Amino acid sequence: MSGWLAVAGLGPGAEALVTPEVTSALADATDVVGYGPYVARVATRAGLALHASDNRVELARARNALELAAAGRRVAVVSSGDPGVFAMASAVFEAVEGGPAGWRDLDIRVLPGITAMLAAAARAGAPLGHDFCAINLSDNLKPWAGIERRIRLAVEADFAVAFYNPRSIARPEGFGRALEILRGACGDARPVIFARAVSTPDEALRVVPLSEAEAGMADMLTVVIVGSSATRMVGRFVYTPRSACA
Ligand SMILES: C[S@@+](CC[C@H](N)C(=O)[O-])C[C@H]1O[C@@H](n2cnc3c(N)ncnc32)[C@H](O)[C@@H]1O
Repeated sequence: MSGWLAVAGLGPGAEALVTPEVTSALADATDVVGYGPYVARVATRAGLALHASDNRVELARARNALELAAAGRRVAVVSSGDPGVFAMASAVFEAVEGGPAGWRDLDIRVLPGITAMLAAAARAGAPLGHDFCAINLSDNLKPWAGIERRIRLAVEADFAVAFYNPRSIARPEGFGRALEILRGACGDARPVIFARAVSTPDEALRVVPLSEAEAGMADMLTVVIVGSSATRMVGRFVYTPRSACA
């Protein structure tokens, strides 16, 4: 029996938002590899080995998964949301690049999932209806100066911006700094969406003008969407018109 490796996106939380393709891969897998809380979302069953690891060991986890697949196991590497968005798919290919030549011929598939910003945008209305970008505010793997530069350029280009990983206990200050930059460049009225734990029982959605946005409104379970200059409210919904361009 030949092994395979599927890098699978579990979506933002709700079972209904897991794609049938991912459900089918999980049903065929012999091994599930991932960050502990994501592995915990996979139902256990006889014959399924769960390999949960810490958040900061992505490359080691990817290598472990590739070794298992090379040994003939059917391996699902799980991420929340989409595995290609600030998640494990890149780590797997980085491990392939630095690993044995034989890993390049393995049966590797990336199975998409619904990423947090799309689930959050759908809850709020259509804030990403025109051009947008996504910025990861974690400076674990890149310098903060580069993050600030990207924020400034995103505002200059008039993108709506989705911010992932806005604020953690280890990084309490970055998001406040990001808000300062945005306030300096965007004016006060820009709608800001704080979408927390979207599609889970703890879901909370809050929309405030940029002038009222505070760093404490976000944590690591929150994705923050800041509108472009054209983004506006209609009733309780936030949307960006399809014709927008500054
Ligand atoms: C390491 S990134 C992983 C992103 C994931 N691969 C995705 O596509 O959504 C983790 C960040 O995603 C966002 N996130 C993930 N799930 C979320 C949810 N259900 N609601 C709101 N934000 C979420 C948060 O910003 C969190 O800090």
